[in-house]
Parts: sequence; C-alpha cells; structure tokens
Amino acid sequence: MSSLLDAKDIKAYYRFSSQFVRAVDGVTLNIDYGDILGIAGESGSGKSTLGNVLMMNIRPPLQFMEGRIILEGKYDLTMMTYQDLKSQIWGRVIALVPQNALNVLIPTRKVQDFIIDVLKVHQKLRKKDAVQLARQRFQDVGLPVEVLIKYPHQLSGGMRQRVVIAIATLLSPKILIADEPTSALDVSTQKQVLKMLLQLHVDNIVKSTILITHDIAILRQVAIKIGIMYAGKIIETAPADQLLQTPLHPYTRGLIQCVVTPEPEISKRGLTHIPGEPPDLIRPPSGCRFHPRCMHAELICIQEEPPLTFMTNHHMVACHLATRWQACSL
Ligand SMILES: Nc1ncnc2c1ncn2[C@@H]1O[C@H](COP(=O)(O)OP(=O)(O)OP(=O)(O)O)[C@@H](O)[C@H]1O
Ligand SMILES: [Mg+2]
Repeated sequence: MSSLLDAKDIKAYYRFSSQFVRAVDGVTLNIDYGDILGIAGESGSGKSTLGNVLMMNIRPPLQFMEGRIILEGKYDLTMMTYQDLKSQIWGRVIALVPQNALNVLIPTRKVQDFIIDVLKVHQKLRKKDAVQLARQRFQDVGLPVEVLIKYPHQLSGGMRQRVVIAIATLLSPKILIADEPTSALDVSTQKQVLKMLLQLHVDNIVKSTILITHDIAILRQVAIKIGIMYAGKIIETAPADQLLQTPLHPYTRGLIQCVVTPEPEISKRGLTHIPGEPPDLIRPPSGCRFHPRCMHAELICIQEEPPLTFMTNHHMVACHLATRWQACSL
C-alpha cells in the first residue's frame, strides 16, 4: 500500500529581490496511515515552512522551487491549482493548525459564528448543518458544546487551542498538521491538547498527524516517528523510541543529550542549548550545514553534503560519520 503522503526532495525558498532564504531545501519524508510524525528543531530551522509546503500552502514571498508531494500514491499536490487545492485538499484532506493558532479566532465573533463563516467558505454548508457538525465534533473530542456560544476572550488559552484544533478537523481531514500547538501553554494544559490529538486518532477523525514542536519532551509523549530538522533539511528520522534512545546525528544528540542525561532530566529540559547559532539560510555553509557547530567535523564534512542514508531499517541520518556513532551506540 502506498504512503498517505510522500514528499520527495521538496524545496521552497523565501524570495527577496535576488536573494533566497532556503527555508526548506531538499526534504524527503513520508507519512503513513496512523502515523504521528513529530518534526523538531531549533527556531528558524524551517519547521513551519515545511508544514505549509507539505499542503502546498505557498504564499509570497515563499516560492515552491521543486519536488513532488504525492497523496495516497495518486495525486501530486505540486501540480494542483490554487483553486483545486482550496476546494479539494485544504481542510478536507490536509488541515493545518498554524503556529500561534490561539489568535486565529476572531475576537468579535462567537465560536459558532466563526465556524459558520469557515464552513461557508469550504463547504457551502447551511448554517444549521454547520452548527450540527460543530456540536457533534465538540462532543467527539470532549469539548463542552456551550463553548460554541462563547467569545474567544471568555475561553482559557488551552480551551481556545482545543477549539481551533476541533475546527481544523471538522471535515475529518486525513492529515492534521499541528504547528507548535502546545508551546504557549502550561504543562497540564499541554497534556489536554496532546490527549485531544490522540483522541482524534482513536476516533478515526484523522488518519495521521504531523506535530511540529521545538520541545522534544512533547514528542516523547505522543510521536510514533520523529524527523529532526536543521537549516532547511531533515538530518535524521527514525521511530520515536529509536531516535530518542540512539540518536546518531551530533545535532540530534545535542538536542536531546540522551547519552549523558538521565531520563527524567531529558523530559524536563526539552531542547537544550547547542553552542553556536543556526546558519544564515541565504548563504548556508558548504558540505554539512551543521559543520561549523559540530565538534567532530572533518574535512569531508566541510566539502561534501552528507546524504540522508538508511542506517537500519527505519533509521535514516545525514552525517558522514554516522557509522562511527552507530558503532558507539551498539
Ligand atoms: N514570511 C517570511 N519571510 C521571509 N523569511 C521567512 C518568513 N518566514 C520564515 N522565514 C525564514 O525562513 C526560515 C525558516 O523559518 P520557519 O518559520 O519555517 O522556522 P521554524 O523552524 O518554524 O522556527 P520557529 O521554531 O521559530 O517557529 C527562517 O530563516 C526565517 O527567518
Ligand atoms: Mg515555526
């Protein structure tokens, strides 16, 4: 059976006159039915841009440069027109909860009226049917239906986030892309949001979730697979347990410090600080983009870009020295 979504060598750059910010620069990944794929990386590594590109939500100055995004082995999203994406894909097949989604709701509109507006655009649903659909979905995911007649300011941050997720999934999209859905929330509220994301899978409302976060501790709780992003590229991807227990890329190891840090410590810390700055994506470093910050870098790392290579069945890494790290972890 083909993957739910297959992205092949996609590139999307922000364009400013003659300069390009290479925010997504050759990403290949696939999402299977039932996956919860976590994408992690430092600020500016291209996570949000990737989320948007995967559904071909490309707005200037972002430009899609090349690559293919194949849905269920059949449709290439990169070949679809804006109109077709809007009427056939967005919301129905792939839905996005954008970063800072807490502010998506309109302050002067009750939740219900906001939903009616959204569904009018997407589905041309009658008002009564839109409200019925919303009530049903709210009940499915354990949200009180009274929330529908509230204004956003009457809701807590956590409730607003859950409402936005419920709205994004009203049309039961196959793939939900949730961009930092927990980052503005305290730990107990984060748990409610994660529980809701899992509930959407249990209830078969969504088939797969792409969860974007800078917080490894969040992925530890829910991700099935993890992809680590650095400077516009996926530099390591593996089943979540494997990646967290035996990270191979020096960047990933820096992020989770799993070699030297005992378990509870890791979960408390999330991402740790790695010395140095992420590179300028207008002029990224030669070879491995991580080499200026990598304490192990050798000549080849400066000269040649390491390809993303299978180390075991499902564990891929882009590091010239990966076999060395693999040997150390055995
Ligand atoms: N609208 C924009 N115009 C120009 N450059 C942008 C725009 N949005 C993002 N960028 C640049 O693209 C790169 C990737 O940004 P992106 O927001 O995708 O990263 P991110 O990993 O989501 O970061 P964060 O963790 O802070 O959300 C950064 O260098 C950023 O400055
Ligand atoms: Mg982001």
